[in-house]
Amino acid sequence: MDFDLYERDLWAGRAPAYERGFARLTRYLVGPLLDAAGVTDGTRFLDVGTGPGFVALEAARRGAAVSAMDAEASMAETASRNVPGLDVRVAVLPEVPFADGTFDAVAGNFVINHVGDPGVAIGALRRVLRPAGRLALTCWVMPGSGALGVVREAVERAGVAWPDDIPESPFTRYGEAAEFRRLVAEAGLGDVAVEEVTWEHVVDPEEWWEAVALSGVGTNGVIVGRQDEKTVARIKAEYDTVVSAHAGADGRVVLPAHALLASGAR
Ligand SMILES: C[S@@+](CC[C@H](N)C(=O)[O-])C[C@H]1O[C@@H](n2cnc3c(N)ncnc32)[C@H](O)[C@@H]1O
Repeated sequence: MDFDLYERDLWAGRAPAYERGFARLTRYLVGPLLDAAGVTDGTRFLDVGTGPGFVALEAARRGAAVSAMDAEASMAETASRNVPGLDVRVAVLPEVPFADGTFDAVAGNFVINHVGDPGVAIGALRRVLRPAGRLALTCWVMPGSGALGVVREAVERAGVAWPDDIPESPFTRYGEAAEFRRLVAEAGLGDVAVEEVTWEHVVDPEEWWEAVALSGVGTNGVIVGRQDEKTVARIKAEYDTVVSAHAGADGRVVLPAHALLASGAR
């Protein structure tokens, strides 16, 4: 199946579940992402792949003039609810529905790993930057581990095979600092820096199971959603074992998270 078509299906109607669950993990990167893009008072800023709009919300709080886009209508609706007055468009990268040179800064939190041709998409984002404007993008360190990997590990331990019809993300090979840097530089950005960001996701393990395995958000959720009741119970038992190695206080687990933050200038 074509990766972009798979992604449209993956996100369709998923905004409420994503906002409740997985967005709590990606929010850690909002501040560092905006810092890397140089977003301050008065910055003309585009949040690409805005999802529930948390990057846009913080940029607006900093005094930026914020626009946003997302491929998924339910995400755009959620973002406009969370960020009153937000100019938010529904558009699928590499389409970027703004004129050349419109923005001082563009940022995307965990969106570039969801597009079929990341190099072309970054080139399109560069186009809407003014000369010397800044781009910042985050992605996961690959292969996904910690908070990102616990359900995948449980699926594997339960002996459930990766389904043939689910395409691997073309971005997988860029989830490593040198490759990500090369990708951004080859799309025409200068002054490219990539840093690895590590943090701890402290969460109730049952809530994280719900967010990643049961909500249908992301490929792990799709795979779990296809299993019969007995197999889901087996995966859940493996998940309980996997997360028990990360036990923290008050019944919660402390899951490490590893991301890359790339930035550069037009
Ligand atoms: C992992 S979520 C990240 C959302 C948000 N940036 C955050 O930090 O929580 C990925 C988002 O990218 C959007 N997306 C995926 N592919 C896209 C594309 N080709 N163009 C625009 N948005 C896309 C999805 O609809 C989803 O809202």
